Amino acid sequence: MATTELIELAIKASEHAHVPYSHFPIGAALVTKEGQIFTGCNIENASFGLTNCGERTAIFKAVSEGYKDFSELIVYGRTEEPVSPCGACRQVMAEFFEKDMPVTLVSKHKTTVEMTVGELLPYSFTDLT
Ligand code: THU
Repeated sequence: MATTELIELAIKASEHAHVPYSHFPIGAALVTKEGQIFTGCNIENASFGLTNCGERTAIFKAVSEGYKDFSELIVYGRTEEPVSPCGACRQVMAEFFEKDMPVTLVSKHKTTVEMTVGELLPYSFTDLT
């Protein structure tokens, strides 16, 4: 269950977004099973395809610091309805999160929707055997 504090951290993270092209900031707050919090924002590039989404920034920051076990993710966007993560981010979530891990999506009005990773990306490609 996302606390107000975690939601505010995701919103705060969106203030660091580098979004000169879309002007669409996203912020994320990722909690490890040990209780550490990694935040992330989207980082755009003039070569548009190099853009990194806010969710993936948070996940990559955590993994690069040695954390791979997570308990929840909060994603904030300035959308009317709770923001919907892109397909690439859902695939990266499926790589690192258990299927029942909660992801809380937050709108600009701070309304929320909680979904599991399994709901966000059913029948995901994670097994190469
Ligand atoms: N974006 C994210 O950061 N996360 C998503 O799940 C959806 C899209 C970013 C990418 C780009 O910087 C901007 O939102 C517009 O697509």
